[in-house]
Amino acid sequence: GVPATTLEQPSVDHRACGHGKIILLGEHAVVYGSHAVAAPVPLAVRAVAQDTKSGGVDMFIPRWGVEYRLHRDPAHRDSFQRSLGIIFDELQLTDRSMRIEVFPNVPRAMGLGGSAAMAVAVIRALDQHYKLGLSDEETNALAFRCEEVAHGSASGIDNTVATYGKPLLYKRASKKGEAPMVRELHLPKRIPLVIGISGKESLTAVTVGKVRTAWQRNPALYDGIFQQIDALTLQGVEAMQQYDLERLGDLMNICHGLLNALRVSSWEVEELVQIAREHGALGAKLTGGGGGGSIVALCPQNREKVAASIRDAGYQAMEVDIG
Ligand code: MEV
Repeated sequence: GVPATTLEQPSVDHRACGHGKIILLGEHAVVYGSHAVAAPVPLAVRAVAQDTKSGGVDMFIPRWGVEYRLHRDPAHRDSFQRSLGIIFDELQLTDRSMRIEVFPNVPRAMGLGGSAAMAVAVIRALDQHYKLGLSDEETNALAFRCEEVAHGSASGIDNTVATYGKPLLYKRASKKGEAPMVRELHLPKRIPLVIGISGKESLTAVTVGKVRTAWQRNPALYDGIFQQIDALTLQGVEAMQQYDLERLGDLMNICHGLLNALRVSSWEVEELVQIAREHGALGAKLTGGGGGGSIVALCPQNREKVAASIRDAGYQAMEVDIG
């Protein structure tokens, strides 16, 4: 099935925003300390806060038919409320009377960083409304706390792209509490991609958990795969900076093979990857958590054909340039 989402290009408006993202190389391995490359996509979550007299925090996500009153006591929050609830607790706004309206233009559970983008949008809406003066660093740190609740082992890459909206090379800190390595990537030219969206919802928490279980059974074997992903990600950065798209495409294909070895691919993802390669993509791989979700294909030629073939097969496709 295709998700009931329309992929509008967000226009600049007064609502606070968090960016959706793709991971070009290095997902999953990044949780274990490898490098990863990510970039924002022109899809964002927007949010706006308003005062009310309702006596509580009311959250509305009209597109998803979600409406709830945030429970003051964290112990009584369901899994959806728990992650965003941290924002209100941390900013000491749980007792205010307000309405938060969220406009998610990032499709849900499609590996495009929707949960991190939503956290950033809500933090920024509160920052604007209550004039909290939060810096990007503070926004990012708070969104990371939400991501940690959403999936225990979050590397922090999604909230970082959601906050800064720039292509970057990322490596998590080796010790808790230390800052991650974040380097903005300056590319000679924009890189043309197609995002293929499978429509199969998949929670990153689930695929990250599966990889962890497998790693615990045989750490040496899995550490070897993570190291290979790390090495090819760094080669990929070089290829991007030299605008060597043939090489970048090869590296994306190999990265997908290794992600498949980690068993985070799916039937739909494999079909999307095959369609993209068959119609001229230089490289194609799953992006983000996998298990469904989305793929990215590198398409300096035949981009329209790749996108059209993906649509013909019943999936959604988006042409985006990164850099
Ligand atoms: C999800 O976008 C990327 C993963 O590597 C998880 C993470 O880095 O937190 C799968």
